[in-house]
Amino acid sequence: MVPLFLRPLAHALASVMGLSLLAVGTTAVSLPANVGWEYNAGPASDHFSSLDQITKTNVSQLKQVWNFPIEVGGLESQPIVVGRTLFAITPGRRLVALDAVTGEQKWIFDPQVPGGQPIRGLASWTDGKTTRLVFSNQNLIFLLDPATGKPDPKFGKGGQINLQEHLRGKAEDNVFYVTSPAILYKNLIIVGGGRVAETLPASPSPARAYDVRTGKLVWTFHTIPRPGEVGAETWPKDAWLTQGGANAWAGTTVDVKNGLVLINTGSPSEDFYATNRLGSNRFASSTIALDANTGKRVWDFQLVHHDLWDSDSMSPPLLMAVTKNGRKAEIVVSTNKQSHIYAFDRLSGKPLFPIKETAFPPSTVPGEQAWPTQPIPTLPRPLSRTSITEDDLTDRTPAAAERAKKIFASMAGGGGHYVPPSLDKDTLVAPGFSGGNGLGGMAADRKGWLYASSANGSSISGLVEYAKLRAAGIGENAYLGQCSSCHGRDRSGNPPEFPALTNVGDRLSLEEIADVIKRGRGRMPAFANMPPLTLDNVVSFLRTGSDVPGTEPPPVHKPGVGEGTGTTKYVFTGYRSFVDTDGQSLLKGPLATLNAINMNTGQYIWTVPFTMGGGPLVTQSGLLLITSGSKLQAYDSATGKVLWETPLPGFGTTPITYRIDGKQYVAIATGSARGRNAAAAGPPKPGAYVAFALPD
Ligand code: HEC
Repeated sequence: MVPLFLRPLAHALASVMGLSLLAVGTTAVSLPANVGWEYNAGPASDHFSSLDQITKTNVSQLKQVWNFPIEVGGLESQPIVVGRTLFAITPGRRLVALDAVTGEQKWIFDPQVPGGQPIRGLASWTDGKTTRLVFSNQNLIFLLDPATGKPDPKFGKGGQINLQEHLRGKAEDNVFYVTSPAILYKNLIIVGGGRVAETLPASPSPARAYDVRTGKLVWTFHTIPRPGEVGAETWPKDAWLTQGGANAWAGTTVDVKNGLVLINTGSPSEDFYATNRLGSNRFASSTIALDANTGKRVWDFQLVHHDLWDSDSMSPPLLMAVTKNGRKAEIVVSTNKQSHIYAFDRLSGKPLFPIKETAFPPSTVPGEQAWPTQPIPTLPRPLSRTSITEDDLTDRTPAAAERAKKIFASMAGGGGHYVPPSLDKDTLVAPGFSGGNGLGGMAADRKGWLYASSANGSSISGLVEYAKLRAAGIGENAYLGQCSSCHGRDRSGNPPEFPALTNVGDRLSLEEIADVIKRGRGRMPAFANMPPLTLDNVVSFLRTGSDVPGTEPPPVHKPGVGEGTGTTKYVFTGYRSFVDTDGQSLLKGPLATLNAINMNTGQYIWTVPFTMGGGPLVTQSGLLLITSGSKLQAYDSATGKVLWETPLPGFGTTPITYRIDGKQYVAIATGSARGRNAAAAGPPKPGAYVAFALPD
């Protein structure tokens, strides 16, 4: 046995040689070096691992090796592994360091930042001597010592920086959350964007880089251009002072070799009614390449012009390499809620497959100017259904078919992508508001194949004049203007995604309701700037159906930008799914699919029915690991065949893999059921971090 005191030296030497030594009996055998895990597998966001110990043949022997229970709550996070430590985020927004081999807790960091916004992951940085964790939590980024979990006092103010600063006006007036982790490039912490309000007033969300040693802001790229900046002419004059959104909230990708930052931005705020941002709104709903050292724009491609559909990209761009017509090409791939797949040359931004500007119907809403065309890729075809005809309607039962036909016939402009919302009449949106590939993102392997799940439903969209909705009280007014889009005009919600609030007073206290409103929770944005009087009245309205006694209703709303109430002349009538009275889809076919696409040719290789879960992980050994609800599944990435599956303690996010002392592990965060699954799952159960490995 190697004496214990010699082992650190052995490890140090071994890491120089790319090997690690393990003593077996009296002979030291060489083992492959330890391999950790970075968010989304690293700066390329390709969800790919070169590890190959777990194979198609032995995957069915995977056994749980440890389980670390966490508190009740939903999770969207992915752990990272640095050295021998796995860093895990809990639903209570704490960071826990676990021994990646045994699951034993080393330390816990609980900054107790008020907020209810998800934390999807974290990042690490090293210069070879010092290693740091970059942990974002609500509006803050902490720089931590991975050995102790203590903030590094040299960074920012006492180890933290506040991302509400350097946005617009006073820091505290900005509502801005870093929900997806930053990414490191050289000594820069790069934050592509964050979560902001979907209704006005909303903060801007520039891409920014900070010095990892000092926390000082190094560069900024405005996604709502300022006067004199490229693209300013595609927005109304001084839009940068009043508009918000255009936010790359889903994370950041870095092409390390070429020194590029790549981001996918979301739509500007307000989502569905946009007469106060007429124009194409360049840099919103776009893929943007920036010089990682300076933040200067290299190229940009707008996926949706003048977005009226909240058609955000829900994952960061993915980097991969393909061979097209015998020539190698390094490409970047983006997708959005419309389920289109866009592929560009990384350096030039030139589309890999032609993208055609295609005509779509004009808006019938007074003052609105939908953009006449949208860019549609010729290849690959979209992941989900993007149009609906009578042939797509369900034939499950004669009665269901009848109901589907009747609703469909009442819609304005048929159904499909880029049909603008109408006033007082509904339109069908396909894919639906949570359509396409989703939060988990896509994966790519080294042979140029792309793997993506995709939701295939449809939603109902519409606008109504705010003045018509306007009721007597402050509380109901604010509710109709700012909450009804998700919770419904009559507070019946759109379960399972958006809960009904009809009896919320029986479940939550005044304080609890106010807390959810101020901080947001899960998919619900925070209304941190709601004036106290409005807040009191909304809470009272939700609990009792009327205002706090003695408060006067506000004056009738003026058309135009939302004067601090978050409402515009027309309000969205709510996220409603195109489903039958029993919740079943009114469309034919599976609600979601899992797909493999050969990006060398743009052709699909396989498509299988799927239940949406977390994001995919592909390995060199030909495995595709993904969660589907509360199951972890392993597919043969060549065929789409399920090779193995196992139940998880909770609803799984994106699996990760790492190797320590020659052994490959698969680990995953599981949380309480949320959204679609919460209703079926009953009272929320605590989740756990779990790790699997092959038996010795
Ligand atoms: C963009 C959609 C959206 C908007 C806008 C929105 N909510 Fe929510 N809300 C949600 C979602 C989703 C949840 C469930 C969150 C979770 O538990 O993950 C929720 C949860 C809640 C809850 C907790 C319900 C419970 O049973 O625990 C309350 C209360 C609430 N919202 C009130 C409001 C009020 C008041 C407003 C307006 C000021 C508002 N919401 C605006 C989406 C929204």
